[in-house]
Amino acid sequence: MSSANPATAAGVPPTTSGSDKGPNQLAAAFSRELSLASRSVHADDYINNHRAVAPPMHVSTTFRYSNNPDDLVPWHNTDPAAPYDSHVYSRDSAPNTTRFEAILASVIGGPTLTYSSGLAAFYAMLVFLNPKRIAIGGGYHGCHGVIQLLSKLSGLEQLELEDDADLAKLQKGDVIHIETPLNPTGEARDLAYYRKKADELGCLLTVDATFAPPPLMDPFQYGVDIVMHSGTKYFGGHSDLLSGVLSIRPDHAADTEDGKPGWYKQLVEERLFLGSVMGSLEGWLGVRSMRTLELRVMRQSASAQQLVDWLSSELKSGTGAVADLVLKVQHASLQPEAADANSWLRKQMPNGFGPVFSIYLKSEEDAKRLPSKLHLFHHATSLGGVESLIEWRAMSDLTCDKRLLRVSIGVEGWEDLKEDLLQGFRAL
Ligand SMILES: Cc1ncc(COP(=O)(O)O)c(C=O)c1O
Repeated sequence: MSSANPATAAGVPPTTSGSDKGPNQLAAAFSRELSLASRSVHADDYINNHRAVAPPMHVSTTFRYSNNPDDLVPWHNTDPAAPYDSHVYSRDSAPNTTRFEAILASVIGGPTLTYSSGLAAFYAMLVFLNPKRIAIGGGYHGCHGVIQLLSKLSGLEQLELEDDADLAKLQKGDVIHIETPLNPTGEARDLAYYRKKADELGCLLTVDATFAPPPLMDPFQYGVDIVMHSGTKYFGGHSDLLSGVLSIRPDHAADTEDGKPGWYKQLVEERLFLGSVMGSLEGWLGVRSMRTLELRVMRQSASAQQLVDWLSSELKSGTGAVADLVLKVQHASLQPEAADANSWLRKQMPNGFGPVFSIYLKSEEDAKRLPSKLHLFHHATSLGGVESLIEWRAMSDLTCDKRLLRVSIGVEGWEDLKEDLLQGFRAL
Protein backbone atom coordinates (compact mmCIF):
# COMPACT_ATOMS: atom_id res chain seq x y z
CA MET A 1 0.00 0.00 0.00
CA SER A 2 1.67 3.19 1.09
CA SER A 3 5.17 4.35 0.85
CA ALA A 4 8.23 2.49 0.20
CA ASN A 5 9.04 6.05 -0.87
CA PRO A 6 12.55 7.06 0.16
CA ALA A 7 10.97 10.30 1.31
CA THR A 8 8.68 8.69 3.85
CA ALA A 9 11.58 6.54 4.96
CA ALA A 10 13.22 9.74 6.23
CA GLY A 11 13.20 8.49 9.79
CA VAL A 12 14.59 5.03 9.04
CA PRO A 13 18.10 4.44 10.36
CA PRO A 14 20.91 4.56 7.81
CA THR A 15 21.73 1.20 6.29
CA THR A 16 24.02 1.99 3.39
CA SER A 17 27.58 3.23 3.00
CA GLY A 18 28.99 6.74 2.79
CA SER A 19 28.55 6.77 -0.96
CA ASP A 20 24.80 6.88 -0.38
CA LYS A 21 23.34 10.36 -0.68
CA GLY A 22 20.79 9.56 2.01
CA PRO A 23 20.47 10.14 5.75
CA ASN A 24 23.91 8.72 6.57
CA GLN A 25 25.84 10.85 4.09
CA LEU A 26 26.63 13.54 6.64
CA ALA A 27 27.67 11.17 9.43
CA ALA A 28 29.98 9.34 7.01
CA ALA A 29 31.91 12.56 6.36
CA PHE A 30 32.98 12.88 10.03
CA SER A 31 35.21 10.78 12.23
CA ARG A 32 33.07 11.34 15.33
CA GLU A 33 29.35 11.51 15.93
CA LEU A 34 28.03 14.96 15.13
CA SER A 35 26.71 16.93 18.08
CA LEU A 36 23.01 17.39 18.69
CA ALA A 37 23.34 21.06 17.78
CA SER A 38 24.90 20.25 14.39
CA ARG A 39 22.37 17.54 13.64
CA SER A 40 19.51 19.92 14.44
CA VAL A 41 20.80 22.22 11.72
CA HIS A 42 21.88 19.64 9.11
CA ALA A 43 20.11 16.29 9.59
CA ASP A 44 17.67 17.14 6.77
CA ASP A 45 20.35 18.35 4.30
CA TYR A 46 20.11 15.13 2.29
CA ILE A 47 16.49 15.91 1.45
CA ASN A 48 17.28 19.43 0.24
CA ASN A 49 17.39 19.54 -3.55
CA HIS A 50 17.38 23.31 -3.98
CA ARG A 51 20.10 25.92 -3.66
CA ALA A 52 18.02 27.87 -1.12
CA VAL A 53 19.54 27.74 2.36
CA ALA A 54 16.19 28.13 4.13
CA PRO A 55 13.73 25.38 3.21
CA PRO A 56 10.93 26.26 0.80
CA MET A 57 7.35 25.77 1.92
CA HIS A 58 5.32 23.46 -0.31
CA VAL A 59 1.57 23.68 0.02
CA SER A 60 0.75 21.04 -2.59
CA THR A 61 -1.37 18.12 -1.43
CA THR A 62 -0.59 16.05 -4.51
CA PHE A 63 2.50 15.29 -6.60
CA ARG A 64 2.77 14.55 -10.36
CA TYR A 65 3.57 10.98 -11.40
CA SER A 66 6.28 10.23 -13.97
CA ASN A 67 5.52 10.97 -17.61
CA ASN A 68 6.99 7.63 -18.52
CA PRO A 69 4.31 4.92 -18.23
CA ASP A 70 7.05 2.30 -17.69
CA ASP A 71 8.00 4.03 -14.41
CA LEU A 72 4.54 3.76 -12.86
CA VAL A 73 4.48 1.62 -9.71
CA PRO A 74 1.58 2.00 -7.25
CA TRP A 75 2.47 4.20 -4.25
CA HIS A 76 6.00 4.80 -5.57
CA ASN A 77 6.71 8.14 -7.15
CA THR A 78 10.45 8.57 -6.95
CA ASP A 79 11.65 11.74 -8.60
CA PRO A 80 15.16 10.99 -9.92
CA ALA A 81 16.15 14.63 -9.31
CA ALA A 82 14.98 14.48 -5.68
CA PRO A 83 14.85 10.86 -4.51
CA TYR A 84 14.43 11.76 -0.84
CA ASP A 85 11.85 14.44 -1.56
CA SER A 86 9.43 12.29 -3.53
CA HIS A 87 5.78 12.10 -2.61
CA VAL A 88 2.36 10.90 -3.78
CA TYR A 89 -0.26 12.54 -1.58
CA SER A 90 0.24 14.67 1.51
CA ARG A 91 -1.84 12.42 3.79
CA ASP A 92 1.00 9.92 3.23
CA SER A 93 4.03 12.23 3.16
CA ALA A 94 4.86 15.81 2.25
CA PRO A 95 8.09 17.80 1.83
CA ASN A 96 8.01 20.01 4.92
CA THR A 97 6.88 17.38 7.42
CA THR A 98 9.39 14.90 5.95
CA ARG A 99 12.26 17.29 6.65
CA PHE A 100 10.92 17.91 10.16
CA GLU A 101 10.76 14.14 10.75
CA ALA A 102 14.32 13.67 9.48
CA ILE A 103 15.66 16.11 12.09
CA LEU A 104 13.52 14.66 14.86
CA ALA A 105 14.69 11.12 14.01
CA SER A 106 18.29 12.25 14.26
CA VAL A 107 17.98 14.10 17.58
CA ILE A 108 15.63 11.65 19.31
CA GLY A 109 17.53 8.60 18.05
CA GLY A 110 14.85 6.53 16.32
CA PRO A 111 12.71 6.53 13.19
CA THR A 112 10.06 9.19 13.69
CA LEU A 113 6.56 10.05 12.51
CA THR A 114 4.71 13.29 13.12
CA TYR A 115 0.99 13.80 13.76
CA SER A 116 -1.38 16.72 13.90
CA SER A 117 -1.06 17.06 17.71
CA GLY A 118 0.43 15.32 20.73
CA LEU A 119 -2.89 13.67 21.49
CA ALA A 120 -3.25 12.51 17.87
CA ALA A 121 0.18 10.85 18.26
CA PHE A 122 -0.87 9.20 21.55
CA TYR A 123 -4.07 7.95 19.91
CA ALA A 124 -2.15 6.58 16.90
CA MET A 125 0.29 4.83 19.24
CA LEU A 126 -2.47 3.07 21.17
CA VAL A 127 -4.36 2.13 17.99
CA PHE A 128 -1.13 0.56 16.71
CA LEU A 129 -0.10 -1.27 19.91
CA ASN A 130 -3.75 -2.17 20.68
CA PRO A 131 -3.18 -3.26 24.30
CA LYS A 132 -6.00 -4.72 26.38
CA ARG A 133 -4.73 -2.83 29.43
CA ILE A 134 -2.68 0.30 29.98
CA ALA A 135 -1.06 1.38 33.25
CA ILE A 136 -0.75 5.13 33.51
CA GLY A 137 -0.25 7.54 36.39
CA GLY A 138 -1.25 11.16 36.90
CA GLY A 139 0.14 13.68 34.46
CA TYR A 140 -1.39 15.29 31.41
CA HIS A 141 -5.13 14.71 31.73
CA GLY A 142 -5.68 14.77 27.95
CA CYS A 143 -3.99 11.37 27.58
CA HIS A 144 -6.54 9.95 30.01
CA GLY A 145 -9.28 11.38 27.78
CA VAL A 146 -7.82 9.49 24.80
CA ILE A 147 -7.81 6.27 26.84
CA GLN A 148 -11.49 6.82 27.68
CA LEU A 149 -12.30 7.14 23.97
CA LEU A 150 -10.46 3.92 23.23
CA SER A 151 -12.15 2.18 26.17
CA LYS A 152 -15.47 3.01 24.53
CA LEU A 153 -14.31 1.46 21.26
CA SER A 154 -12.25 -1.52 22.37
CA GLY A 155 -12.81 -2.01 26.09
CA LEU A 156 -9.22 -0.88 26.82
CA GLU A 157 -8.79 -1.01 30.61
CA GLN A 158 -6.98 1.81 32.41
CA LEU A 159 -4.87 0.73 35.40
CA GLU A 160 -3.15 2.86 38.02
CA LEU A 161 0.62 2.95 37.62
CA GLU A 162 1.35 3.61 41.28
CA ASP A 163 -0.83 0.71 42.49
CA ASP A 164 1.02 -2.62 42.69
CA ALA A 165 -2.21 -4.63 42.69
CA ASP A 166 -3.20 -2.88 39.45
CA LEU A 167 0.24 -3.40 37.90
CA ALA A 168 -0.04 -7.13 38.65
CA LYS A 169 -3.07 -7.27 36.32
CA LEU A 170 -0.93 -6.40 33.31
CA GLN A 171 -0.36 -9.16 30.76
CA LYS A 172 1.83 -9.74 27.73
CA GLY A 173 1.28 -7.08 25.08
CA ASP A 174 -0.16 -4.55 27.53
CA VAL A 175 1.38 -1.09 27.90
CA ILE A 176 3.06 0.76 30.74
CA HIS A 177 2.95 4.45 29.83
CA ILE A 178 5.23 6.83 31.72
CA GLU A 179 5.10 10.58 31.52
CA THR A 180 8.38 12.09 32.68
CA PRO A 181 8.85 14.74 33.85
CA LEU A 182 5.23 15.04 34.86
CA ASN A 183 2.73 17.67 33.89
CA PRO A 184 2.18 19.94 35.80
CA THR A 185 4.74 19.47 38.59
CA GLY A 186 7.88 18.87 36.51
CA GLU A 187 8.82 15.89 38.74
CA ALA A 188 10.55 12.93 37.08
CA ARG A 189 9.92 9.18 37.10
CA ASP A 190 12.51 6.40 36.96
CA LEU A 191 12.57 4.88 33.45
CA ALA A 192 15.03 2.08 34.34
CA TYR A 193 12.66 0.94 37.10
CA TYR A 194 9.65 0.83 34.76
CA ARG A 195 11.65 -0.88 31.98
CA LYS A 196 12.43 -3.67 34.45
CA LYS A 197 8.77 -3.89 35.51
CA ALA A 198 7.63 -3.99 31.88
CA ASP A 199 10.11 -6.79 31.10
CA GLU A 200 8.97 -8.82 34.11
CA LEU A 201 5.36 -8.52 32.97
CA GLY A 202 6.01 -8.94 29.23
CA CYS A 203 4.67 -5.43 28.60
CA LEU A 204 5.64 -2.62 26.30
CA LEU A 205 7.04 0.60 27.74
CA THR A 206 6.02 3.89 26.17
CA VAL A 207 7.14 7.31 27.37
CA ASP A 208 5.71 10.78 27.02
CA ALA A 209 8.95 12.78 27.07
CA THR A 210 7.35 16.12 26.21
CA PHE A 211 8.78 17.87 29.30
CA ALA A 212 12.36 16.71 28.65
CA PRO A 213 13.22 16.94 24.96
CA PRO A 214 16.79 16.35 23.77
CA PRO A 215 19.32 17.14 25.14
CA LEU A 216 17.69 16.77 28.57
CA MET A 217 16.80 13.07 28.34
CA ASP A 218 17.32 10.08 26.03
CA PRO A 219 14.56 7.53 26.74
CA PHE A 220 16.04 5.07 24.21
CA GLN A 221 18.98 4.63 26.62
CA TYR A 222 16.43 2.82 28.78
CA GLY A 223 15.07 0.57 26.03
CA VAL A 224 11.77 2.38 25.77
CA ASP A 225 9.67 0.92 22.93
CA ILE A 226 8.10 4.16 21.69
CA VAL A 227 8.93 7.73 22.70
CA MET A 228 6.10 10.20 22.33
CA HIS A 229 6.19 14.00 22.43
CA SER A 230 3.76 16.80 22.12
CA GLY A 231 5.84 18.57 19.44
CA THR A 232 3.65 21.58 20.14
CA LYS A 233 5.91 22.33 23.10
CA TYR A 234 9.73 22.39 22.74
CA PHE A 235 10.08 21.14 19.16
CA GLY A 236 7.71 23.88 17.97
CA GLY A 237 9.14 26.16 20.62
CA HIS A 238 7.37 29.37 19.56
CA SER A 239 3.72 28.73 20.57
CA ASP A 240 2.68 28.72 16.93
CA LEU A 241 2.25 25.12 15.81
CA LEU A 242 0.50 21.92 16.90
CA SER A 243 2.43 18.70 16.49
CA GLY A 244 2.71 15.17 17.86
CA VAL A 245 5.73 12.92 17.55
CA LEU A 246 6.28 9.15 17.79
CA SER A 247 9.85 7.83 17.68
CA ILE A 248 10.31 4.08 17.48
CA ARG A 249 13.11 2.05 19.03
CA PRO A 250 15.31 1.24 16.00
CA ASP A 251 15.12 -2.57 16.36
CA HIS A 252 11.29 -2.44 16.27
CA ALA A 253 11.26 0.09 13.46
CA ALA A 254 13.25 -1.88 10.90
CA ASP A 255 11.67 -4.42 8.55
CA THR A 256 12.33 -8.03 9.50
CA GLU A 257 14.94 -10.06 7.63
CA ASP A 258 12.22 -12.04 5.89
CA GLY A 259 10.79 -8.78 4.56
CA LYS A 260 7.88 -8.20 6.96
CA PRO A 261 7.27 -4.48 7.53
CA GLY A 262 8.64 -3.14 10.81
CA TRP A 263 6.78 -0.78 13.15
CA TYR A 264 7.84 2.28 11.17
CA LYS A 265 6.18 1.20 7.91
CA GLN A 266 3.14 -0.12 9.77
CA LEU A 267 2.67 3.18 11.60
CA VAL A 268 3.06 5.13 8.34
CA GLU A 269 0.40 2.94 6.79
CA GLU A 270 -1.98 3.36 9.74
CA ARG A 271 -1.44 7.14 9.73
CA LEU A 272 -2.55 7.20 6.11
CA PHE A 273 -5.95 5.99 7.31
CA LEU A 274 -6.11 7.96 10.56
CA GLY A 275 -5.42 11.05 8.47
CA SER A 276 -3.94 12.91 11.43
CA VAL A 277 -0.89 14.39 9.66
CA MET A 278 0.69 17.78 10.30
CA GLY A 279 0.06 20.57 7.83
CA SER A 280 2.85 21.91 5.61
CA LEU A 281 3.06 25.28 7.37
CA GLU A 282 3.50 23.49 10.70
CA GLY A 283 6.17 21.24 9.19
CA TRP A 284 8.00 24.26 7.84
CA LEU A 285 7.77 26.05 11.19
CA GLY A 286 8.95 22.86 12.87
CA VAL A 287 12.14 22.75 10.79
CA ARG A 288 12.76 26.42 11.54
CA SER A 289 12.38 25.68 15.26
CA MET A 290 14.54 22.57 15.38
CA ARG A 291 17.57 24.60 14.30
CA THR A 292 17.64 26.25 17.74
CA LEU A 293 16.37 23.36 19.88
CA GLU A 294 19.50 22.92 21.98
CA LEU A 295 20.04 26.65 22.48
CA ARG A 296 16.47 27.18 23.61
CA VAL A 297 16.06 24.13 25.80
CA MET A 298 19.39 24.46 27.62
CA ARG A 299 18.75 28.15 28.28
CA GLN A 300 15.17 27.55 29.40
CA SER A 301 16.16 24.70 31.70
CA ALA A 302 19.09 26.64 33.23
CA SER A 303 16.88 29.69 33.85
CA ALA A 304 14.18 27.51 35.44
CA GLN A 305 16.85 26.05 37.72
CA GLN A 306 17.96 29.54 38.81
CA LEU A 307 14.38 30.47 39.62
CA VAL A 308 13.62 27.22 41.46
CA ASP A 309 16.81 27.66 43.51
CA TRP A 310 15.87 31.24 44.33
CA LEU A 311 12.28 30.36 45.32
CA SER A 312 13.51 27.44 47.45
CA SER A 313 16.03 29.59 49.28
CA GLU A 314 13.36 32.25 49.91
CA LEU A 315 11.08 29.54 51.31
CA LYS A 316 13.85 28.23 53.55
CA SER A 317 14.61 31.73 54.83
CA GLY A 318 11.04 31.93 56.14
CA THR A 319 10.75 35.68 55.65
CA GLY A 320 9.68 37.95 52.78
CA ALA A 321 6.89 37.93 50.20
CA VAL A 322 7.74 34.51 48.75
CA ALA A 323 7.80 32.79 52.14
CA ASP A 324 4.59 34.57 53.15
CA LEU A 325 2.61 33.40 50.13
CA VAL A 326 4.17 30.20 48.78
CA LEU A 327 3.38 26.78 50.26
CA LYS A 328 5.82 24.73 48.17
CA VAL A 329 7.61 24.48 44.85
CA GLN A 330 7.79 21.27 42.79
CA HIS A 331 10.43 20.41 40.18
CA ALA A 332 12.61 17.40 39.41
CA SER A 333 15.60 19.27 40.89
CA LEU A 334 13.85 19.28 44.28
CA GLN A 335 13.34 15.50 44.37
CA PRO A 336 15.71 14.00 46.99
CA GLU A 337 17.56 11.94 44.33
CA ALA A 338 18.68 15.13 42.56
CA ALA A 339 21.25 15.66 45.32
CA ASP A 340 22.89 12.26 44.70
CA ALA A 341 25.27 12.23 41.71
CA ASN A 342 24.81 8.46 41.31
CA SER A 343 21.02 8.47 41.44
CA TRP A 344 18.72 7.31 38.64
CA LEU A 345 17.50 10.88 38.35
CA ARG A 346 20.93 12.43 37.72
CA LYS A 347 21.66 9.67 35.17
CA GLN A 348 18.32 10.11 33.45
CA MET A 349 18.53 13.91 33.27
CA PRO A 350 22.25 14.70 33.11
CA ASN A 351 21.85 18.07 31.37
CA GLY A 352 19.23 19.76 33.52
CA PHE A 353 15.82 19.09 35.03
CA GLY A 354 13.61 20.91 32.56
CA PRO A 355 12.03 24.33 32.16
CA VAL A 356 8.66 23.61 33.85
CA PHE A 357 7.91 23.70 37.56
CA SER A 358 4.94 24.32 39.82
CA ILE A 359 4.35 26.79 42.61
CA TYR A 360 1.67 26.04 45.20
CA LEU A 361 0.43 29.14 46.97
CA LYS A 362 -1.08 29.00 50.44
CA SER A 363 -4.35 30.46 49.20
CA GLU A 364 -6.47 29.61 46.14
CA GLU A 365 -7.43 33.25 45.76
CA ASP A 366 -3.79 34.38 45.57
CA ALA A 367 -3.02 31.64 43.04
CA LYS A 368 -5.84 32.94 40.88
CA ARG A 369 -4.60 36.54 41.18
CA LEU A 370 -0.81 36.19 40.84
CA PRO A 371 -0.74 35.93 37.01
CA SER A 372 -2.56 39.27 36.70
CA LYS A 373 0.29 40.97 38.60
CA LEU A 374 3.06 39.83 36.22
CA HIS A 375 4.51 41.69 33.24
CA LEU A 376 6.79 39.17 31.53
CA PHE A 377 4.78 36.00 32.06
CA HIS A 378 1.74 35.50 29.87
CA HIS A 379 -1.18 33.94 31.71
CA ALA A 380 -1.88 31.09 29.32
CA THR A 381 -1.91 27.32 29.03
CA SER A 382 0.72 25.24 27.19
CA LEU A 383 4.49 25.41 27.63
CA GLY A 384 7.80 25.06 25.85
CA GLY A 385 7.73 28.32 23.90
CA VAL A 386 10.26 31.14 23.95
CA GLU A 387 7.82 33.21 26.00
CA SER A 388 7.53 32.45 29.72
CA LEU A 389 4.03 31.33 30.66
CA ILE A 390 2.29 30.93 33.99
CA GLU A 391 -1.04 29.18 34.33
CA TRP A 392 -3.45 29.00 37.21
CA ARG A 393 -3.78 25.36 36.26
CA ALA A 394 -7.40 25.07 37.40
CA MET A 395 -8.24 27.00 34.21
CA SER A 396 -7.60 24.01 31.97
CA ASP A 397 -7.29 20.98 34.26
CA LEU A 398 -10.39 20.58 36.40
CA THR A 399 -8.71 17.85 38.45
CA CYS A 400 -5.83 20.07 39.55
CA ASP A 401 -5.27 21.59 43.00
CA LYS A 402 -6.61 25.17 42.87
CA ARG A 403 -3.52 26.51 44.63
CA LEU A 404 -1.20 25.37 41.85
CA LEU A 405 0.45 27.63 39.28
CA ARG A 406 2.33 25.93 36.46
CA VAL A 407 5.33 27.88 35.24
CA SER A 408 7.03 27.37 31.86
CA ILE A 409 10.24 29.34 31.52
CA GLY A 410 11.06 30.93 28.17
CA VAL A 411 14.25 32.49 26.87
CA GLU A 412 14.02 35.85 28.64
CA GLY A 413 16.75 36.81 31.13
CA TRP A 414 16.13 34.87 34.34
CA GLU A 415 16.95 37.86 36.55
CA ASP A 416 14.12 39.76 34.85
CA LEU A 417 11.75 36.86 35.43
CA LYS A 418 12.83 36.75 39.08
CA GLU A 419 12.14 40.45 39.51
CA ASP A 420 8.77 40.06 37.81
CA LEU A 421 7.77 37.21 40.15
CA LEU A 422 9.03 39.11 43.19
CA GLN A 423 7.09 42.26 42.37
CA GLY A 424 4.03 40.06 41.66
CA PHE A 425 4.26 38.41 45.08
CA ARG A 426 4.74 41.80 46.70
CA ALA A 427 1.73 43.22 44.85
CA LEU A 428 -0.46 40.47 46.34
C1 LIG B 1 2.83 15.93 28.71
C2 LIG B 1 1.89 16.24 27.58
N1 LIG B 1 1.56 15.25 26.73
C3 LIG B 1 0.71 15.47 25.70
C4 LIG B 1 0.12 16.70 25.50
C5 LIG B 1 -0.84 16.89 24.38
O1 LIG B 1 -0.23 17.56 23.34
P1 LIG B 1 -1.03 18.43 22.25
O2 LIG B 1 -1.62 19.59 22.95
O3 LIG B 1 0.03 18.75 21.24
O4 LIG B 1 -2.08 17.51 21.70
C6 LIG B 1 0.44 17.75 26.37
C7 LIG B 1 -0.19 19.08 26.18
O5 LIG B 1 -0.10 19.94 27.03
C8 LIG B 1 1.34 17.51 27.43
O6 LIG B 1 1.68 18.48 28.30
